[in-house]
Amino acid sequence: MNAKEFFMNGKFLSAEQGFISVRTHGFAYGTGCFEGIRGYWNERDQQVYLFRAREHYERLVHSCKILQIALPYSIDQLIDISTELVRRNGQKEDVYIRPVAYKSSLALGVRLHDVEDSFILTSEPQGDYVSTRGLRCCVSSWRRIDDNAIPARAKVIGSYINAALAKSEAIQNGFDEAIMLTSEGHVSEGSAENIFLVMNGEFITPSPSENILLGITRDSVMRLGQRELAYITHERQVDRTELYVADEVFLCGTGAQIAPVISVDQRPVGNGEIGTVGRRLQELYFNVVRGNIAEYREQWCTPVYVQVPQHK
Ligand SMILES: Cc1ncc(COP(=O)(O)O)c(C=O)c1O
Repeated sequence: MNAKEFFMNGKFLSAEQGFISVRTHGFAYGTGCFEGIRGYWNERDQQVYLFRAREHYERLVHSCKILQIALPYSIDQLIDISTELVRRNGQKEDVYIRPVAYKSSLALGVRLHDVEDSFILTSEPQGDYVSTRGLRCCVSSWRRIDDNAIPARAKVIGSYINAALAKSEAIQNGFDEAIMLTSEGHVSEGSAENIFLVMNGEFITPSPSENILLGITRDSVMRLGQRELAYITHERQVDRTELYVADEVFLCGTGAQIAPVISVDQRPVGNGEIGTVGRRLQELYFNVVRGNIAEYREQWCTPVYVQVPQHK
């Protein structure tokens, strides 16, 4: 069912009121930034848990700073608005919360300064974004945008043209997902996911200077890998052909969750099936995000509905 309400500039409005002008700056020029936060329904607790909402809003604040967008809410207020929206929508299912901060002036003229800003928050039901049962990937002919062109560490609306070009090329050529290289030819990330290689009992992932979005799932994988699976992550430059010889490869992101890769450029990863580490990590991740593990629930999961049973 579609959401009944959304939040815009200080008010909860009904879905039918959700229109912006065709002249809106953020629409005309892509001058805005956003986040994607998942909420997971936990049947046992009769609860929706927002996963790492604080870290998502911290990144939104960074994106706004880069784009010179004034965000008139504290992080605690943003979390409160998010939980209230899910409650108002009566959502007792997996949801995707999308805060958008954007330039809302109707005036012509490309710039960031002296343009008024707006903030919108929506919450929609959400299933898988990509398959979690094994992706066939290609290396894209489109290069990942450079930090000096469109800041890669900000989640900028307009920069998703880059992701859309890569994704459509991949799908139209018969693959499931694209892996993008930097302009120097090193591995950067998927179209909307970070990437990890498993090699010799360690995780390897491109470092922050490889024009990646610094993913919150990436951070969760590094922490869970070390604490729960005894896999240390090395953040370093990764060559394209390392993808062909890695023991395992997986993509991760709020949308993608943990998505094992079973082939890259027609070469099977490992034996061409989901690897044991990818599978273990996937299982662990789904338990963590759904609030099934007390320690991580307390650290990372924000309950939407007021009564929270104290399971250990
Ligand atoms: C370009 C890009 N890289 C990486 C990610 C993964 O980031 P996160 O784990 O914070 O969702 C996303 C998804 O938000 C993305 O759009």
